[in-house]
Amino acid sequence: MDQFLIHGGKALRGGVEAAGSKNATLPILTASLLADGPCRLSRVPNLRDTETFLKLLAEFGLRIERPAPRRIAIDTSEVRTGTAPYDLVRTMRASVMVLGPLLTRFGRAQVSLPGGCAIGARPIDQHLKGLEAMGAEISIKDGYIDARAGRLKGVRVSFDMVTVTGTKNLMMAAALAEGTTVLENAAQEPEVSILADLLNQMGGRVTGAGTPIIEIEGVDRLGGYEVGVPPDRIETGTFMIAGAITGGDVTIHRCIPEHVRSLTLRLREAGLDVTEGNDWVRVLANGPLQPVSIKTAAYPGFPTDLQAQFMTLMTLARGSCAISETIFENRFMHAAELVRMGANIATDGRTAHVEGVESLAGAHVMATDLRASASLVLAGLAAKGDTIVRRVYHIDRGYERIEERLRTLGAEIERVSE
Ligand code: EPU
Repeated sequence: MDQFLIHGGKALRGGVEAAGSKNATLPILTASLLADGPCRLSRVPNLRDTETFLKLLAEFGLRIERPAPRRIAIDTSEVRTGTAPYDLVRTMRASVMVLGPLLTRFGRAQVSLPGGCAIGARPIDQHLKGLEAMGAEISIKDGYIDARAGRLKGVRVSFDMVTVTGTKNLMMAAALAEGTTVLENAAQEPEVSILADLLNQMGGRVTGAGTPIIEIEGVDRLGGYEVGVPPDRIETGTFMIAGAITGGDVTIHRCIPEHVRSLTLRLREAGLDVTEGNDWVRVLANGPLQPVSIKTAAYPGFPTDLQAQFMTLMTLARGSCAISETIFENRFMHAAELVRMGANIATDGRTAHVEGVESLAGAHVMATDLRASASLVLAGLAAKGDTIVRRVYHIDRGYERIEERLRTLGAEIERVSE
């Protein structure tokens, strides 16, 4: 197993380009199950999750080609329904997104129930409730969801909580349903709007994405698509914090500054100089870090996917703050590892109280999930001495060659075998 060896304490300086978004790539790939025609993607991030997802799509007859690096072409001419197996769904919960498209196109889909994961129970009741309201008959057998339907019918669905994947799943199901579906309390994350634009390019009729009410008028057929994957806002935010925590000066190019605005505002409150242009954002460290409390929330609130990284930054602030996690019930696994590096953090349910310390010290730490591992890399970059971050396969799920890109900013980080 690979691990990262980080020699901390160097201020990062320079520019880095954002990669394509993981959480946009997966629904774009999923939408190819709806396509009657070829699909082409560019700026596809080279990630473990992308690879896993392509394996899953192959189960449904899609033929994947890679005409060039970061480009994928999908031949959908032999697409069919099938089963999303436990081994793939277990490692990547986003796999459950195939349920809506397969069901609406073929009237039958079988998908393994994902089970819990490191950051919480993550049920999918809202996906199932919506599909049932549209006319699906759903049973659970041997750990698998077995869904059957004639043509799904457009209905009004009101989500009990904001769910990103749930919104995407039902949007795709509704795209080929009979009549109009209205999703209330829909997720407003940029990745939802990206999927809506894609469905419209394929011939769908989706309006309201980016607001809490999305309307989807079903059509009889969707064609293929050609799309460039938009930049990853969580990766952008992680690089911004890398600049901040090392007292550096980092510019992220080819990003969408609006997508990281909630972080930008908090970094400014913390005393950083953050400037932005059309497609870049620059973080310049400027004097001592001030403590800033945050509470995660659905977009446009502070993203749960940057909570661990921001907590790491706050371990070095001059004073105390509270970090509250409202989206997932178990997303503080990084706190105990940060404490091992000298941080002063006390967790109390869904709130972590962070008292800033003078410095962090290098240690052996263990990654437990994707964003937690990013936060430990950030801690290692800022710490005095050497840090070893174990189980970096978590970080490879969502950050493309992060060590190489951090090195271009001057970081001393190496990938080594355990
Ligand atoms: N929830 C339910 N029932 C449902 C659906 C969700 O109770 O039917 C709960 C979840 O348990 C959670 C909350 O609602 O407590 C929000 O879950 P959501 O469905 O929005 O999360 P997700 O769609 O599974 C996506 C991202 C996550 C990101 C969250 C929140 C993808 C592939 N994943 O997950 O990304 O944290 O939205 O923004 O888009 C990551 O990239 O590291 C990651 C975990």
